[in-house]
Order: sequence, then C-alpha cells, then structure tokens
Amino acid sequence: MTFRTRPPKPPPPGTLASRADKHRCYEISVQDPVAEIDMIDMTYRVLRGKTATVLREDFCGTANTSCEWVRRRTDNRAVSIDIDPEVLEWARRNNVARLRSSQRERIDIWKTDVMDFRHGKADVILAMNFSYQLFKTRAELGTYFSRAREGLADDGVLFIDAYGGYESCRRNREKTRLEQFTYYWDQAKFDPMSGHMLCYIHFRFRDKSWLKRAFSYCWRLYTLPELREMLDEAGFSRVTVYWEGTDEETGEGNGIFTPAGHGQDDPAWIVYISAEK
Ligand SMILES: C[S@@+](CC[C@H](N)C(=O)[O-])C[C@H]1O[C@@H](n2cnc3c(N)ncnc32)[C@H](O)[C@@H]1O
Repeated sequence: MTFRTRPPKPPPPGTLASRADKHRCYEISVQDPVAEIDMIDMTYRVLRGKTATVLREDFCGTANTSCEWVRRRTDNRAVSIDIDPEVLEWARRNNVARLRSSQRERIDIWKTDVMDFRHGKADVILAMNFSYQLFKTRAELGTYFSRAREGLADDGVLFIDAYGGYESCRRNREKTRLEQFTYYWDQAKFDPMSGHMLCYIHFRFRDKSWLKRAFSYCWRLYTLPELREMLDEAGFSRVTVYWEGTDEETGEGNGIFTPAGHGQDDPAWIVYISAEK
C-alpha cells in the first residue's frame, strides 16, 4: 500500500512561516553533523585502525554532513548524492558556498538515484536519517545495500541509522520546542500489514503561523533484525549495532552510542549500524 501524501500548505504572506527557510529549519531540528561525524570518524578508526578520507553521503539533502567532513581534515573528500535538484541547488547556494575554496574543491555533488551511482570507491558511505527506508521492499533495499557495498573500498564501512520501539509503529505526533520555532514529527499513517508509514515534518512559529507538511516521507519501517539480516545477505563481513546510553538524571538518551549485543524495549529508540565490507 502506498499512502497518498497531502501537498504542503503555503503559509499566508507576511507571517514568520512565509519568510522561513524550510531546509534551514530541517537542519536545526534533526541534524547534528558535528556529533555524527565525530561518531563515524572514531568508529571507522576503531574498526579499521586508520583514518577515513573519502566519504560518500547518500540521500545527502542539503549536504550538511559532507560539508562538515571536508572541514574536518585538509585531505578529506566528500561525494554527495541526492535525486532532488531543488535541495541540491539549496546545498550549493548555502552550505557549499559557505566553505573556503580549498574545502569546496573537495566536495563533489551528484544529482542522481543512489541506486545508479557507480563512480569511485569510498572509505565510508552514509545513509542517514532513515532515508534508505524509501526502498519499500526487501528486494529493493537489499539491492541498495549490495550496491553500496560495491561502492566501498576494500576496507570500507557503510553507516546507517535506524529507529524503532512501540511508539514508532503507530500514529503519533511529537513536538520539540526550539528557540525560533516548534518542530513537529508527525507519524500520520501506519499500516501494520506492509509496515508502510506516512510521516510529515511541520514547523510552527512564534506568530502561530505554520509551515505544514514542509517535508513528507512515505517509507517502510524496517525492524533491526530485518536490517541486520539484509546487510549480512548483501555480503558485509560484520554488522554492528550501536545502542545509545542513558543519562542517569533525565532517563533520556545521552548521545553516546556503543556496540551492543542486545537492546532495551524502550518506547522509542535510535541506533547507528556499521556494516563492514
Ligand atoms: C530524509 S532526507 C535525508 C537528508 C539527510 N541525509 C539527513 O541525514 O538529514 C532524504 C533525502 O533523500 C533524497 N532521495 C530520495 N530518494 C532518493 C534516491 N533514490 N536517490 C538519491 N536521493 C534520494 C531526497 O531527495 C531527500 O533529500
């Protein structure tokens, strides 16, 4: 079953929402490229005993993470891939334009389907913010994992994230108050038969104006056992899940992810997964 997404609703002119930049709001709400690259850089070093240089960012969106990668070290290179010309143009005009020229020349942006990309080999491939779930059958996702494996150098590592818990597979709307706006993660529909979900991101501003359905995702919620099996089947030699530690004071996640053999049946959790070629 494929859900029909409702088109975004344009905000009334003159409101804060009408002046907002949805891509910047997205970055502020859901991304932390510094922490993400810290985790990937360190984990690659632990797994491979050396430093990664070439990073391929699949489903790169605004290429925020690729930009952080080329800022990190003077020999780091990034290959950033997305299918959507609009978000890539935004990436070029904003994030890439802000880099120094010596950094800019080490980032290579491709407008293409990640399935079709076959140029060069990367030390690290990232598929973050659950984007691979856009492939809604095991056959399609398995093909993507195999092609990502082919795109890695001999000692390359694929990193993905995953989420789950009993709050993830039902209709649910979660709001997070940020300084300039409130971010809403809206699980609008879930079909337990297929695992297909329709999710939206909305933003609400101080003048009560909304950017409704700024982003929509129709994807399949894969379980961790499925992902681990598919990565094994795609030929990766070792698959590791990194579970988040708990802050003792708040009882919330502490942002520290360590290799784990078992998880907790928390209402909602996020993990990283490494898959070594
Ligand atoms: C959830 S966003 C992820 C952005 C970013 N990776 C992050 O971590 O926040 C998903 C992105 O995947 C892109 N996309 C969807 N299908 C794709 C495909 N087959 N090949 C390449 N990019 C794709 C969309 O255009 C969108 O920018």
